Amino acid sequence: MNHQNEIMIKEDTTDENGLNTMSDHENTKKGLGEKWPEPTVRVQSLAESNLATVPDRYIKPPSERPDQTIIINHQPQTAAINIPVVDLNSLFSGNEDERERMSEACREFGFFQVINHGVRPELMEAAREAWRSFFNLPVEAKEVYSNSPSTYEGYGSRLGVEKGAILDWNDYYFLHYLPLVLKDLNKWPSIPSNIREVLDEYGEELVKLGERLTGVLSSNLGLKEEQLKEAFGGEDVGACMRVNYYPKCPRPELALGLSPHSDPGGLTILLPDDKVVGLQVRYGDTWITVNSHPHAFIVNLGDQIQILSNSIYKSSEHRVIVNSQKERVSLAFFYNPKSDIPIQPLQELVTSTNPPLYPPMSFDEYRLFIRTQGPRGKSYVESHISPLDN
Ligand code: OGA
Ligand code: NI
Repeated sequence: MNHQNEIMIKEDTTDENGLNTMSDHENTKKGLGEKWPEPTVRVQSLAESNLATVPDRYIKPPSERPDQTIIINHQPQTAAINIPVVDLNSLFSGNEDERERMSEACREFGFFQVINHGVRPELMEAAREAWRSFFNLPVEAKEVYSNSPSTYEGYGSRLGVEKGAILDWNDYYFLHYLPLVLKDLNKWPSIPSNIREVLDEYGEELVKLGERLTGVLSSNLGLKEEQLKEAFGGEDVGACMRVNYYPKCPRPELALGLSPHSDPGGLTILLPDDKVVGLQVRYGDTWITVNSHPHAFIVNLGDQIQILSNSIYKSSEHRVIVNSQKERVSLAFFYNPKSDIPIQPLQELVTSTNPPLYPPMSFDEYRLFIRTQGPRGKSYVESHISPLDN
């Protein structure tokens, strides 16, 4: 699949989740205990052992493999579609075209990229480089942060606790920023030496960006600017980060870096790898490979926004493909509702002809779908829909 690898490595054109206020005891009751169902295998170790192929556990059934869909993306009618770019500076200066572009992207497929977003490029670079250094440490240095399904915090290699599940080709690191009671620096890496400091600043800046974006989403729905944030719990919003490390894969046409899913939370602000592409967004029957703008963040809407907006906004279905030539690092920052309050369609968006599509559920409870069963397209939000009462 040389053809595939060619499109994976970009030329010089630059460019999970949650809070846990539930006790471990409650999580255990719901099936998320202290232990993974099988011994953890680090994908990075597999990649470094120079295997000729990938172990069976990483081989997707033929219909889920990425190869055919990439060819579809080369068809002229889909090649023209890319992820809309929104200039936030211009939007906040009153440019209605920017606002409209963002609004349309949210309604159509829940994905856009932002530039002039106010986060310094040096800070973005420093955060990415700190994580690259972390993942380049010897495996033993990372194992001290090994995570468990009860909170997911730390160094992990799977999503979901189903025994015998087909796994994705990635390792990750998951940590909390907000609420402050969950921010535990001891669960953050301490090497490289500047990582905690860099991540702290990065988190502060991304929370601010999350707030600004939420304000725009809210006004674009015809609501007061603060309304969506208030529905997220006001000053008690949640924020966490999942850093993804996708090692080189000897048979990229058989595996996926991350299976199709929508993010369970509010909104995701992704810092993609600046050199290697991999993220794909579903658009109808095809997958569009995201070619991000230099210094952009990729923003995608999660299921809680789809629920609160009564499906006016859509959470996006996305996945990650891998390649045999270069590893990829991405930082997914999640701006989420407070985890224990009921989330349901906002009253203002519900009418007699547009009844509420979803029953109330807290994010803590909702997040258990993906935490127990792993990534499964948009099936969680689709099956969460209220039964028709007529
Ligand atoms: C995620 C995700 C995309 C990427 O972490 O939820 O979709 O490009 N990541 O790594
Ligand atoms: Ni995602």
